Amino acid sequence: MNERSTVTSEAKPRFSEDALQQIQAIYRRYPADRRQSALMPILHLAQREFGGWLSRESLDYVAEFMGLPPIRVYEVATFYTMYNLKPVGRYHVQACTNISCWLCGSDAIMGALKNKLKIQPGGTTEDKRFTLAEVECLGACVNAPMMQINDDYYENLTVDKVAEIIDRLP
Ligand code: FES
Repeated sequence: MNERSTVTSEAKPRFSEDALQQIQAIYRRYPADRRQSALMPILHLAQREFGGWLSRESLDYVAEFMGLPPIRVYEVATFYTMYNLKPVGRYHVQACTNISCWLCGSDAIMGALKNKLKIQPGGTTEDKRFTLAEVECLGACVNAPMMQINDDYYENLTVDKVAEIIDRLP
């Protein structure tokens, strides 16, 4: 799992050297006159760089970095749910409750998560370890029900497995 840098009110967001290299690789995927199309992967990278979420300051930085009007960045960041616009815990637990997962028992999975973490969807535990989110289809319907924790998918879940997975996290 990636360690995330934290953006504080004193530290303005700035891409690391490693991120700048990744951005060059991202830009190479697009024609030179279509670089604005790299906004989504660059926002994703910014989210990883800046503590797992995108503050207004981070969005403005991305806009300035890419030479885009801030509104172009805001409209993308606020449309897609994979961009977190408020801080999340160290583990971002995203439980799918869309149709395939729902038919396969996502209500029970969500119930087990709420019970285990003692928070509701949208909430973060007091120790800031976990944020729980209810999300739409994550494209793993064949192994429903499922959840994503940070970058990892957990599939064919049962209530018992949910508790085990949470307990095994370092
Ligand atoms: S409906 Fe849950 S992964 Fe598709």
